[in-house]
Amino acid sequence: MDKKIKIVGIAGSLRKEAYSKAVLNAAKELTPEGTEFEICGIEEIPPFNQDNENNLPISVKEIKAKLMAADAIVIVTPEYNFSFPGVLKNAIDALSRNEEGRPANPFDSKPIAIMSNSPYMLGGSRAYYQLRQVFVYLNANVLNRPEVIIPFVKDKLDKNGRLSDEETRGHIKKQLEALLQAAMKKSA
Ligand SMILES: Cc1cc2nc3c(=O)[nH]c(=O)nc-3n(C[C@H](O)[C@H](O)[C@H](O)COP(=O)(O)O)c2cc1C
Repeated sequence: MDKKIKIVGIAGSLRKEAYSKAVLNAAKELTPEGTEFEICGIEEIPPFNQDNENNLPISVKEIKAKLMAADAIVIVTPEYNFSFPGVLKNAIDALSRNEEGRPANPFDSKPIAIMSNSPYMLGGSRAYYQLRQVFVYLNANVLNRPEVIIPFVKDKLDKNGRLSDEETRGHIKKQLEALLQAAMKKSA
């Protein structure tokens, strides 16, 4: 492979010890060789106000530039009230808006892998499908399969908070391989 594929990863939780961050770290570890994986935090993104969309804060501009330059995106979301967290929606809303003279939407046609997780048995799938729906409007290329929806996530971490469950790591790896294929196809 001549050109290194660049992936940007975002966790949809601000919590310091978030399970979603542990899953994202595992994705970074499992990224196939020859691929760059950069994690971008959304902690600094302020509440989006459309009055200011032509003067986006630096935190938004920086992440947006990284997303524009990325070949693919990974988003790991928890489930809040049968959906994905408002902070993640706020980040996507802010990142998807135009700035004068700049391309508007860093998600447009971009391969995206969604992973969701929950400490509970049935959590994660509702967040997964609602997030997928948002990316329909943004014309992203969200992978249909394999899906990664991780129940009982807290039982899959070791004592250092690392996602160590081998079966789950295997699912993540397969999804990343599919993402890489989609990214290479797009950039060919
Ligand atoms: C406001 C709120 C709503 C929640 N709703 C759900 C839910 O609908 N389904 C679920 O499985 N867990 C739900 N939970 C529990 C979260 O899965 C749990 O707090 C998890 O640790 C959050 O993800 P994180 O560790 O990545 O921050 C909710 C938690 C909060 C704070």
